[in-house]
Amino acid sequence: MPSPATVTRFLTGITTTGTPHLGNYVGSVRHSVRFSQRPDVQSYYFLADYHALIKCDEPARIQRSTLEIAATWLACGLDPERVTFYRQSDIPEIPELTWFLSCVTGKGVLNRAHAYKAAVDRNHAAGSDPDADVTVGLFMYPALMAADILLFNAHKVPVGRDQVQHIEMARDMGNSFNHLYGEHFTLPEAEIDEAVALLPGLDGRKMSKSYGNTIPLFTPRAQLQKLIGSITTDSRAPGEPKDTEGSALFQIYQAFADAPETEALRKAYAEGIAWGDAKQLLFERIDREIAPLRARYDALMAEPAQIERILVAGAEKARALSQPFMGRLRHAVGLRNLADQPAAASMGKAARAAKPSFKQYREKDGRFYFKLQDAKGALLLQSLGFASPQEAGRAIGQLQQQPAAALESLASQLEALDNAGLRAAIEALENLAEASGE
Ligand code: TRP
Repeated sequence: MPSPATVTRFLTGITTTGTPHLGNYVGSVRHSVRFSQRPDVQSYYFLADYHALIKCDEPARIQRSTLEIAATWLACGLDPERVTFYRQSDIPEIPELTWFLSCVTGKGVLNRAHAYKAAVDRNHAAGSDPDADVTVGLFMYPALMAADILLFNAHKVPVGRDQVQHIEMARDMGNSFNHLYGEHFTLPEAEIDEAVALLPGLDGRKMSKSYGNTIPLFTPRAQLQKLIGSITTDSRAPGEPKDTEGSALFQIYQAFADAPETEALRKAYAEGIAWGDAKQLLFERIDREIAPLRARYDALMAEPAQIERILVAGAEKARALSQPFMGRLRHAVGLRNLADQPAAASMGKAARAAKPSFKQYREKDGRFYFKLQDAKGALLLQSLGFASPQEAGRAIGQLQQQPAAALESLASQLEALDNAGLRAAIEALENLAEASGE
């Protein structure tokens, strides 16, 4: 069992607006699930449904997507006992922390976020108002994401390249907060896995919802076969050698096959395999890997209440950390139980930092004096002349040990104080005693 110090916390969120496709599986899910089984890794996976609200105003789609994504991760082997698997909107500390971070983040920083800037640029190009159709949600997107990450003190955040700027902003926000309120946050780093394949879609462009060229991961078998049949190929006839270079079909095959299988297909291409046969091979290869997962997925989808229970339990596990942590953050910024912190004690730190001090000196009249000043140099107490430095030193000692009694007994050797002055002097002397007692 690795010690806590050697465990690295990985955290990532999946926005709940779509149906998982083969590209998500190859580019993220498959790898993450395997990775989460490592003993030196602590994983946090969550369904970013607050983020989904930024770009989707269809309630049914959000609910459906949340269910599908949760079922997908579970079907692919994510173990909710091992990892912390939860739904963002079940963690009220996330929006609360978003607010804290908003208050330590310059508006100019968010002005530079890619997604917001792109929207403004589009408006400019269209000659519209720069903020036309831009919600505050979109603008705040990086602060919400920073809260997701900082709340669990993640070390590493596996994301695509398009998200790197957001991780840097999370670092900056965490850093600003730490600077103002003490070292509360771990500063996260983006983790981009270069080895992870980008899967081409049906038309050869990157597989993406926005291109409409996806193959849903758990589409029924017959539908999978039909979609694979629609992958774009060139017009070479059976028997004509075919290029693997630039062949979407070949690249998708490669993402599922092992090296010998890939070599075999490469050879078949060179020997002029018919496109129909190549598509059949691809279909069978994918289905071999996906079929058992699809069976689990279908079973999970048939029992949404079971998934709901898993997520609620995950949220409980997450909140066991986030709730007390948020308590400390609230305290750090000054949102405190008023009864817990009597004024004097809550001032303790500041008062100690601003420590009063005694100064001893000799005047032209040859006599020995002292004065007590606060941290800013304001005079709190002024002695009259003593015959020797030892006598002055003894008086200081008495004042330090028994402030109130000494002020009374030494009154004839001190410049007179009014009541307010006397109170200030006693408080300062008590502070001094408290500070030196530590
Ligand atoms: N913004 C991420 C995306 O669209 C999803 C996300 C939300 C996320 N919060 C996160 C990713 C925190 C990593 C960490 O891909």
